[in-house]
Amino acid sequence: MKKIVVLVSGNGSNLQCIIEAVRNRQIRNTEIAAVMADRPCYALKRAEAAGLQTFLLPRGTAFSENLEKILPKDTALLVLAGFLSILSAGFCEKFPGKIINIHPALLPKFGGKGMWGEKVHKAVLESGEKQSGLTIHFVTAGIDEGSIIAQATCAVQEGETLDTLAKKVHALEHQLYPKIIDNLLNNNTP
Ligand code: GRF
Repeated sequence: MKKIVVLVSGNGSNLQCIIEAVRNRQIRNTEIAAVMADRPCYALKRAEAAGLQTFLLPRGTAFSENLEKILPKDTALLVLAGFLSILSAGFCEKFPGKIINIHPALLPKFGGKGMWGEKVHKAVLESGEKQSGLTIHFVTAGIDEGSIIAQATCAVQEGETLDTLAKKVHALEHQLYPKIIDNLLNNNTP
């Protein structure tokens, strides 16, 4: 069995989809070795309810160092799912191609420091873009700069609100993230 570790900070709806996809073998031959958070959050409760091993590591400069100490050596993929801390450059460089993130817009637009949560959707709406979506990408030292693995798009319609856009993007995320995790772990092309 391949081992993945999921990093979370928030609601954990993507984590929930990953848990279910591992259970129903949409993500094949894989177990979630642990769920780790940088703050108390609902995602941790979801992980506990699923009987997974959880860790709460303090936020701040030592986060990456502490993570490295407890990360199982045979972790095949580190999956960021609504994780809000920035992993150190040194940490990212030790695991090239093994850390992935999901971002709620079409990178390289609407990414970078401070672009998370509602702020992303707000920027998309204010820009007048006709399309938004999500990006799954490798994590490198530069925030939201790692190479893009997959994207999915949705239309930004007349009268679109923060709430409706966030819901649409979330629904796309829930479909695509488990598929891409399975592809990466089991060597399929997306
Ligand atoms: C998602 O929109 C993801 O793109 C972003 O954070 C959000 C996490 O949502 N990185 P959830 O915690 O999985 O519900």
